[in-house]
Amino acid sequence: MIKARITAPPDKSISHRALILSSIAEGKSEIDNCSTAEDVRATLFALKTLGISIKKSGRNHFIISGKGIEGLINHGNKIKIQAHNSGTTARFFLGLLAGAGVKAVITGDKSLSERPMKRIADPLKRMGAEFQGNDKLPMEIKKGIDKCNFEYKIPVNSAQVKSALLLAGLFSKRKMIISESISTRNHTEILLKEMGASIFVKKNGCLSSVFLSGASKLKPIELRVPGDFSSAAYFIALGIIAEKSDITIDRVGLNPTRTKFLDVLGDMGAKVSVNNFINKFEPYGTVRAKSSKPVAVNLKYDDVSLMIDEIPIFTVISIFAKGNTVISGAEELRYKESDRIKSLTKELGKLGIDIRERKDGLEVKGLLWDENKVDRNTVIKKNIKSEEFKNLDDHGDHRIAMALAILEMALTEKISKKYDSVNVSYPDFYGDLAAIYLQGKLNKPVILAGFMGAGKTTTGRLLAKKLGLKFYDTDKEVEKLTGKTIVEIFKNHGEKYFRRKESEVLRKLLAENACIISTGGGTLLNEENLKSASKVGKIFVLEPEFKILKSRLMRENKRPSIKRADLGEKEKTIEKIYNERKYMYKNIKGKRIVTKTSEESCRKILWELFTFL
Ligand code: S3P
Repeated sequence: MIKARITAPPDKSISHRALILSSIAEGKSEIDNCSTAEDVRATLFALKTLGISIKKSGRNHFIISGKGIEGLINHGNKIKIQAHNSGTTARFFLGLLAGAGVKAVITGDKSLSERPMKRIADPLKRMGAEFQGNDKLPMEIKKGIDKCNFEYKIPVNSAQVKSALLLAGLFSKRKMIISESISTRNHTEILLKEMGASIFVKKNGCLSSVFLSGASKLKPIELRVPGDFSSAAYFIALGIIAEKSDITIDRVGLNPTRTKFLDVLGDMGAKVSVNNFINKFEPYGTVRAKSSKPVAVNLKYDDVSLMIDEIPIFTVISIFAKGNTVISGAEELRYKESDRIKSLTKELGKLGIDIRERKDGLEVKGLLWDENKVDRNTVIKKNIKSEEFKNLDDHGDHRIAMALAILEMALTEKISKKYDSVNVSYPDFYGDLAAIYLQGKLNKPVILAGFMGAGKTTTGRLLAKKLGLKFYDTDKEVEKLTGKTIVEIFKNHGEKYFRRKESEVLRKLLAENACIISTGGGTLLNEENLKSASKVGKIFVLEPEFKILKSRLMRENKRPSIKRADLGEKEKTIEKIYNERKYMYKNIKGKRIVTKTSEESCRKILWELFTFL
């Protein structure tokens, strides 16, 4: 049984676009809730390589000092852009830099170097650009586009191609018309419009054409990126296929060019609903999915174009559908982070699922557990070799990894293998999956201990949010209980009194069913406290490397014990206190969490709790 509520991670597609367009806007833009997944980081570093100043001011908040359209031009030396695994970065920078006439070499990892770039290079060549490289990365931009009007019908629908051409078109100062047989994700068009570009879309039957007049100026923006629909899709699927489940996902981006998957689920009779729809320039809302008995539907080229990233998880849902599913017109899947038609057929096939490869898609035979009153578990046991999950392979592809995890979770409530590939789009994936499972099941307090600056409060708050629990900081609770600040307590009553009050607070908090408690190591040095905390709750000791601790503490000024005007003095004080106390932390019995960031600590703790439960 799963009953959970989570928030979707930031949208990757919008984050790439917002970062790039802000960099060529006139002045400071602010992007909040920006994705920091590996793919988006590739874009961010590429922009920094181009000399754009991007400052992080909060967990997912960036301030970008745009240099204007002219800012990229005449950059001088040849630039090297490393796109890693990100097709969006590679293609967008081919368009952007060929548009700006910046001489650059664009490279990618092994998988990206096998993916087609001809789809971008061809139209850019028609605009006058010249490249070296065999239409695969690494590619070098030898010459930028000419200033010319340009009209182009994209042969295979792709939002990446459309956006890359629009980016190039911004520099041409002429007119551009880009058409596609169906309107693929339109985040670039929306942002450009918002930033004052002269852009509009005309529909003629199914044909959708974007008209852009090369811009001379783009206005900076302030934007809060909505949640990623394609990432939320995994949990929508889990809600549908897991038994007795009810999953709510907040702040999901609901741009209609992204939500075909929801329409298809509706056609399948799945119990999925949308609430709290906010119609901002990028709309978002809450999606709720409950256990369903879907019926099979077939997908064709236009459907596939509008839910291209959701096909792996749709395939997983189709295993649970009544009837057989045929996906056709999906050859594009062969050119993603892996050949997704092959990856799905191979991996799901290993589990005993009846799935067949077609040249342009897949066929899946659904499991009919409601026929002949055979119950679900019997059908699953008979048809799926769950013990094989540990032997599967993600083919280095994040969407295959996440689809397999959702299937395993729905079938076994366990995850036998984690894949690193998820980091390219959704680093919190396994943590969020664990949080979904843990909600309503955790019946113990989780206690976070550690040196000051270890990230107890930030990690604790994050954990509490992910798990839907209350967060307590023992210091704050002591202040509430006594009506005095910690400094006053120490000054007027001494440490002994403080420790007594702290123990009192801890005892009270440990009596709560499930909550997150952050406490300094001192509390747990008391034998009795440690005993009851280990008995009643689960203790984690946060232990970032000392140099991380030190740099965090050097940056802040709120701790009375280390507040010093002179930086050298402050550094010495931190070192002294650390050396005095590090032994005492060694004595605390609890799981050590060694990470660089609070997000990483949160993920690790969620995973520990999930495997422990
Ligand atoms: C994307 C478009 C899609 C999608 C990719 C992101 C985008 O690629 O698969 O994950 O942000 O424009 P194609 O446009 O090549 O289908």
